[in-house]
This record gives sequence, structure tokens and C-alpha cells, in this order.
Amino acid sequence: MSGNLSELVGRGRVSRRLYTDPDIFEEEMKHIFGRVWLWLGHESQLNNPGDLFTTRMGRDRIIVARHEDGEIYAFDNRCTHRGAEVCPKKSGNAAHFECPYHAWTYRTDGSLKSVPLRKGYDTGFDARVDALALEPVARLDSYQGFIFGSHAADGDDLQTYLGPDVREAFDNFVDRSPDGTLEMTGGTTVQRYRGNWKLQIENSIDLLHPLILHHSAVDAADRVDHGGREPSIEWDTVKANGLSFSEWDELHVAALPRGHCWMGGFLTKAIDEDAEKAVMDENGWRVLQAQYRDTMIAAHGEERTDEVLAFNRHNTIVYPNLLVNSRLAQVRILHPSAADCTEQHGYIFRRGGAPERMFEASVRMVNANNSPSSIVTSDDHEVFERIQEALEYGTSEWLDWSRGIYQERKLEGGTGGAGTNEVAMRNQHRAWAEYMAAEYMAPNNMADDTAGA
Ligand code: FES
Ligand SMILES: [Fe+2]
Repeated sequence: MSGNLSELVGRGRVSRRLYTDPDIFEEEMKHIFGRVWLWLGHESQLNNPGDLFTTRMGRDRIIVARHEDGEIYAFDNRCTHRGAEVCPKKSGNAAHFECPYHAWTYRTDGSLKSVPLRKGYDTGFDARVDALALEPVARLDSYQGFIFGSHAADGDDLQTYLGPDVREAFDNFVDRSPDGTLEMTGGTTVQRYRGNWKLQIENSIDLLHPLILHHSAVDAADRVDHGGREPSIEWDTVKANGLSFSEWDELHVAALPRGHCWMGGFLTKAIDEDAEKAVMDENGWRVLQAQYRDTMIAAHGEERTDEVLAFNRHNTIVYPNLLVNSRLAQVRILHPSAADCTEQHGYIFRRGGAPERMFEASVRMVNANNSPSSIVTSDDHEVFERIQEALEYGTSEWLDWSRGIYQERKLEGGTGGAGTNEVAMRNQHRAWAEYMAAEYMAPNNMADDTAGA
């Protein structure tokens, strides 16, 4: 199948089959999600031996745990006996994992610890014990405390995979903590939409849509009477979707190797303008920002603090499925379930040494913008589902991604454009075509009967 896939990505257009074809989805799970570095979680979830969390790599259910040797291990959440899930928890601590079906028991490094009624197995069983460990993730590494895994035994190391621009987003995430620590906490938002995973990853850098698609959210924000007081930060992040087209175009988008990209920050502008019109509120955002800045200056000095806080990006997208926002202290990840079904999980971080109200503001911003109760995200998911349904019928093959194709700017290490330029999505599609065309190597040297079929 791989031989023909490159024809589905043209210059400034892609075939609708990228979003609807179950066979293409299966190929994506192998060629993209089965190969690249995927974000798993954060080291702050694994402070002590036995600490664990479960997550996904594409469709695969994965356990990540800190073992008694102090190392972090990641492996399939699937019993090697008959396939039952061995860890039902989202997170927690365990001495071992006991399968609920026939009680095969595994250590927190994934190795097989015990099997009931062992004498019922043949004499060669002992020799097979190592191979009966929970299937390990081929490679595991961390950058700035963010843990990634790859199913491919070979390939770029994590730092090379991320590249300098993406690493900067993680660096800034940590730099914004006065004491240099981050704690992933405050719960998880989980949303499932009936649409392809690429719809969200394209949307995350689509600056042509907020003013149009989110107009009802902006209208609702406009009707709020603040009584002359300073608006809340979460209100402001909703209102910021209503920037004019020329204001969106003033922002910059960068398209990077391997499909990664980022967009310039837009919240500062809206927040400052709204705040200027209002009476200073001692419980408001400006006072909180000043208190936070003081904690940063006490830790790092004024010059370094200004440098860190001047890093003004909104989403940095780590292709294929991670959205990083250091300023809002949140990440979002997409877990594809089928060609027409995707789960989005959102996580929030507490910055060590910062005022607790900063963390509370981060939670409120996530609730306002990226949670199941958000009046913004609900617009996006609604339109994804309408697109997915519409792409299933009719005869026209192509979707247009040509905006700004002649206005792309060459950058050091990538390409860029004005805010509404679709250069970043074209870059995602190019990376998609390259991954899908490359030879697939199954993990752990297992024969892959379907590669290239
Ligand atoms: S399926 Fe796990 S012990 Fe049988
Ligand atoms: Fe949106």
C-alpha cells in the first residue's frame, strides 16, 4: 500500500482518504505511531519506586513505572499469557501487577515474577521466563522531565527528533518555574470526537478559523459585564479568539523538520488591552503576574526573568500528536482510536515556587478553553465531526491547503509564514508522506508480514 500513498499528498492539497480510509489508518499506526518518539508523561508522576501511570502510544495501552532500581520502565499493559489488561489504574503505586484473569504476576520493570501452578508447565518454561515479560517499549528517554517512548529500536535520538525549536518550548516550560521544578497535577481532561486525529493537529495551528468558528464564544464573552473591574484571565483567553484577520496575520507560524511547528503567542496582546481598560483588581491577573514575576526575579534575577517571560508562543506542536504550551502550563495529546475516532487528553502543571494562584489560573484557563465544558473546544470538535461525516460521501477527492503557498518564508531550520498561512499544515502533510513512504521496521526484530503489502 505504501507505494501509492505519496500520491495522496499533492502540492497544496491532500486526498480525503487521509481522514477516512481504515487501511491508511492501519498504515499510520505502523509507519508513524509505531516509529516516532511519542510523549508518555512526566517524571513528577514517578517520584518513588512502584509509582506508575498508564497511557497510550497510538492505540497501544502502555504502563510506565519506576522500579526499585530507580529506573523508569515502559511496557505493554497486556498480559503475555492471554492478553488481559494487567493494570487498570490511571496512576498510583504498586508493588507488582497481578493479572486479574489467571494471576500471572509481573514486577514493576515488566519482568514475570510468578505464575500460579507452575508445575503444570513443561520443563522448558523457566527458559522462556524472560521472553514472557510484558512487552517493553523499544526506547525510552526524557527531555526536561518529559518522558517519551518509541516503538522503533533504531532512529533519531530524542533530542534530534525534537530539534532546537521544539526543545526550546520544553526549556521554557521549566524555565518559567521559579525553582526549576514542574508537577503534573490537577487532573486530566478527556474528550473523544468522531473524527480523524489529523483534524485536531491541523486545527491547532489554523489561525484562519478562530474569528469565524469561535464567534459565538467571542460574542458570549463580549456580553459579560465586568462592572469596571479587571476581566478574569480565563475570560480573556476566550475573548482572544476574536482577534481580527490582520491581527492573526501579524503572528508568525514556523514549520519545522519532521512535521513539528509552532505559532506565535496572541494572548498577551488581548490581555493587556483588556486590562488597561479596567480598574486594577488586587485579586486580578495583573497583580498575580507581578507577584509571579517577583518570585522569578528572586530566583533568577531581572534580566533572565525578562528573557524567560518574553518567550511568547502559543502552541508548539510535536508531530504527530502533542501540543505544548509553556505559557499556559499545559499539554494536550491526541490518541487515535480509529480513522474516525480520536481521544484528546489534557494535562496541567504546577510551577514550583510560583504563587499557588498561578496554578489555579492554569486550571481555570484549561477549563475555559480546552475541556469538555469549554465553549471554544466544543466548536472545534463539532466541526471535526461534521467534516468527518461529509468526507465519507460525495465524489470530490481533494481538500485544499494552498493558502499562502507563494508567501512562505525560508527560515533558519525551517519555513515560516504569516499567521493565516497554511505552511505548517502543508509541512505536516509532507512529513506524513515521508513517514508513510519509508520502510517499516517492526519493533524487537519481529517479522512483519504486511510491511510494503
Ligand atoms: S490472561 Fe493474564 S494470567 Fe491469564
Ligand atoms: Fe479552535
